[in-house]
Amino acid sequence: MSFGLGHGKPLDPAPGVVGVSDDELGPLPDDIVANPESGRVDPRAWFEEPGRPFELEIGSGKGTFLVQQAELEPGTNFLGIEWAGEFYAYAADRVRRRRPAGKLANVRLLHADAAEFLRWRCPDGVCRVIHLYFSDPWPKARHHKKRVIQHRFLAEAWRVLEPGGELRVVTDHDELWVWDMAHFEQWVGGGAVETATPSPRTEGVDRGEAARLHGTQMGTFIDADALARARASLPEMPDVVRVMRQHMPDPPFELLAFDRPESAGSGEIVGTNFERKFRVEGRSFHAGVLRKRAR
Ligand SMILES: C[S@@+](CC[C@H](N)C(=O)[O-])C[C@H]1O[C@@H](n2cnc3c(N)ncnc32)[C@H](O)[C@@H]1O
Repeated sequence: MSFGLGHGKPLDPAPGVVGVSDDELGPLPDDIVANPESGRVDPRAWFEEPGRPFELEIGSGKGTFLVQQAELEPGTNFLGIEWAGEFYAYAADRVRRRRPAGKLANVRLLHADAAEFLRWRCPDGVCRVIHLYFSDPWPKARHHKKRVIQHRFLAEAWRVLEPGGELRVVTDHDELWVWDMAHFEQWVGGGAVETATPSPRTEGVDRGEAARLHGTQMGTFIDADALARARASLPEMPDVVRVMRQHMPDPPFELLAFDRPESAGSGEIVGTNFERKFRVEGRSFHAGVLRKRAR
């Protein structure tokens, strides 16, 4: 299916320059199942300055967050991962067109399933932030397994984050947020979903404004019946995740309030394309941060 994103003009993802090329990623080794770490590649090496802090965005869509935030933060490397080919090409082309002006040398795009990338490719402890904004809600029960937030995903996110690193989540979708929270509460310790404290990074932010922006984000604002239903139907934590948990602190994460990135516009939470679209429709939003606790 074509979304007509190029408006008739070809999109150039600039493989090897902006888009991550097959050569850079390399093939998956034949013994990947027997030796799950054999396919790991360090994504920091794909950037001109590999020593900089590294952040990734899952489902970058048209690339609005990357383009806005990475320009304000040239000292951080950003990798956008997008599995829809046309959106990947659109976002990479958008970055490519800014490169001659000396901008966005710190942004690359990868055409891949982000959950698979984390699991099979991404080494331990390399990532400062994982951004997950307006993830597809997959509302039908038989499609819930396609949602990004799963116990296995949270285990891999913990593994690839630096100590103190963050998984930052925003959605407009009430039922997806309840699903997320029903998972999160098994990763942040009893009661934390209901009693999450503001992030230290919101210090100095006007509390009235923060509450207005983020008023629906915490567990206390979740419909209790919906949360109970989600808990009852949540997939079991797989054995492999229980084994991974033995090497993590208990709980592995703490849940914090979402602090807006610098690039968010006035009255916005994060300022992505989907937030802007949904804001016009009058939707409300949910947001939160899981911060990795160190061992
Ligand atoms: C609803 S859009 C949101 C796009 C953007 N984050 C925003 O807020 O405007 C979700 C995007 O995530 C992508 N996506 C969903 N699951 C993905 C996955 N597992 N790996 C990579 N991209 C994914 C979709 O193709 C889509 O472009």
